[in-house]
Amino acid sequence: MYLGHFSLREPPFSITPDTDFYYPHEGVQASLNMLLVALRSGEGFVKVVGELGCGKTVLCRQLLKTLQDEFVTAYIPNPDMGPDDLLLALAEELNLPVEQPFNRHHMMTALAAFLVGHARAGRRVLVCIDEAQAIPVRTVESLRLLSNLETEKQKLLQMVLLGQPDLDDKLSRPEIRQLLQRITFSEYLGPMQARRVPVYLAHRLATAAISADTPVDVFMPRAAMAIAHYSGGVPRLINVLAHKCLMLAYGEDVSQVSVAHVHLAAKDTPGVMARAPWWLWLRPAWRMSNQDRQAIARRRAPAELAPEQETA
Ligand SMILES: Nc1ncnc2c1ncn2[C@@H]1O[C@H](COP(=O)(O)OP(=O)(O)OP(=O)(O)O)[C@@H](O)[C@H]1O
Ligand SMILES: [Mg+2]
Repeated sequence: MYLGHFSLREPPFSITPDTDFYYPHEGVQASLNMLLVALRSGEGFVKVVGELGCGKTVLCRQLLKTLQDEFVTAYIPNPDMGPDDLLLALAEELNLPVEQPFNRHHMMTALAAFLVGHARAGRRVLVCIDEAQAIPVRTVESLRLLSNLETEKQKLLQMVLLGQPDLDDKLSRPEIRQLLQRITFSEYLGPMQARRVPVYLAHRLATAAISADTPVDVFMPRAAMAIAHYSGGVPRLINVLAHKCLMLAYGEDVSQVSVAHVHLAAKDTPGVMARAPWWLWLRPAWRMSNQDRQAIARRRAPAELAPEQETA
C-alpha cells in the first residue's frame, strides 16, 4: 500500500467510523453541541436524521466519548430486532443481569429498579440507538414504554435515535405517532460544506501521519475541489475517492494528487456526482486559512509530545 510512500502510520481514509479522525465541520459540530446541551439538561428523547454516509455513527461515537464520565451509556448499533431482544441488548450494554427464563414484565421491572438506583446515586443513563430507521414498528412501542420510565422530576433513561431519512417516515406512521410526540429535539446532519473538504483531507492526513514532517498538502487545491464536487460533501464518498487517489498517485510514484487522479477515481466510484462542465473548474481554488493550518498543526502535536511527556 501507499503508507510508506506518503509517510503515514495508518490508512487516512478508511470508511470505518473512527473518532480519532473526527473532524468538527460546522454541521456535525452544531449537532454535537445541540445533543450535549439537550442531554445535559435532561431531555428524554432526541433524534438525529442524516443522509447516507454523512457521519451519524461518528457523531454518535463522539457523543458517547464526550459524555463517558458524566453518563452511564449504552450503544445499540443495530436495532433491527424484536422488543425482547432490544431489552436484552440494552441489559447487556448496561451490565444488568438477566433472569432466566426471560420474562418481559420481570425484565422491565428489573430495568426500572436498576435505573432508579442510578438516579438515586446521581447518575444519568443514556442509550444511543444507531440505524434507528431499521427498528421494527412493534419494537418502537417498547421504546415508548422505556421512555415512560421517570421519577416525578426526571427521566430515568435518556435516548438518542440516529437514522437515515426513512426514520422520519417511520415515525410519522399513525400507529407510532405517540413516540414522535416525545421527541423534544431533532437535528439534521447533511454533507459538509464544499470549502471544508480541503481542510478535512489535510486533517485526516495529519491524524494518520508518522510525524510532523509528513506533508499534509498531498491533494492539490484543484484536486480537493474536484473531490468536493464529485462527493457532494458526503464524508464516506470523500474517503472512498481520496483513498483511490492516493493509490493512483502511489502507482505513478508522484507525491501529489492532481485533478486527473480525481477524475479517474470518480469514474470508478458508484454514487458520485456527474462530471461538472469544464468552466466550473476555472473557479479560484479554496485555500486553507491560517486558523485551519494551526488547527492541523495542533492535531499533530500530541504524537510529537508523547515521548517528552513520558519522561517528564
Ligand atoms: N465529522 C467527521 N469527521 C471525520 N470523519 C467523518 C466525519 N463524518 C463522517 N466521517 C467519515 O465518513 C465515513 C462515514 O461515516 P459514518 O459511518 O459515521 O456515516 P453514517 O451517516 O453513519 O452512514 P450510514 O448512513 O451508512 O449509517 C466514515 O469513514 C467516517 O469516519
Ligand atoms: Mg451509520
